[in-house]
Amino acid sequence: MRIENITFAIESSLIKKVLLEELEKKYCFKEKNLINGDFGGAFNKVCSISDNKNSLVGKFMRINSYHSKISKKSEDASILNYEYEIHNELYENDVRVAKPENVFLVNKERFLNPFGKIYFPGLVMQDLGRLTLDKLGGNVKKKAQEMIDIELKKAIELGFIPFHDSRNEGNSIWFEEQVYLIDFTFWKRKK
Ligand SMILES: Nc1ncnc2c1ncn2[C@@H]1O[C@H](COP(=O)(O)OP(=O)(O)OP(=O)(O)O)[C@@H](O)[C@H]1O
Ligand SMILES: [Mg+2]
Repeated sequence: MRIENITFAIESSLIKKVLLEELEKKYCFKEKNLINGDFGGAFNKVCSISDNKNSLVGKFMRINSYHSKISKKSEDASILNYEYEIHNELYENDVRVAKPENVFLVNKERFLNPFGKIYFPGLVMQDLGRLTLDKLGGNVKKKAQEMIDIELKKAIELGFIPFHDSRNEGNSIWFEEQVYLIDFTFWKRKK
């Protein structure tokens, strides 16, 4: 993802301002549980997060608040909330996506942080495992790619405009013999 896109996202009139006080404080994450690595191009960081019952991940914005204490957290929350709304609508309409929970303030390294609790807005959702499409091969991969097209078609019929990276191998996960779509940051709706 390119940095200019963040500015687009923040300035987009589609994004409603989210007040941090409105967000529930729940869950915690540890950097060691990072799933998508710390490579330069990553737009978001995705970590598995603790929860007693379910296996969940949290998606956090890397460029704004993840590393710095400079408060851009409201913008982060607004962008993540925009994604959550799309994500949830897809889920409710039976497009195969990770089950979304909501945007929460997630506590970073609660038990290790000597400076007390630090919270970051995170989009919390079902953990679909680690089989992104780049990890598949042969016929399974071919089948998975066909399944992506079916899910994208369903989304388009609902009035969404998927971002052009939707067929990228990191934007869908093979889970229980099915393909699940993730990553709706830059999706739009038809006017
Ligand atoms: N629900 C999930 N379950 C398991 N892994 C996930 C889930 N959501 C995201 N991931 C992992 O995190 C990665 C990045 O997620 P996503 O595509 O939503 O963010 P991104 O902004 O594109 O980040 P990046 O720039 O790193 O690709 C995915 O490729 C996948 O490995
Ligand atoms: Mg992605």
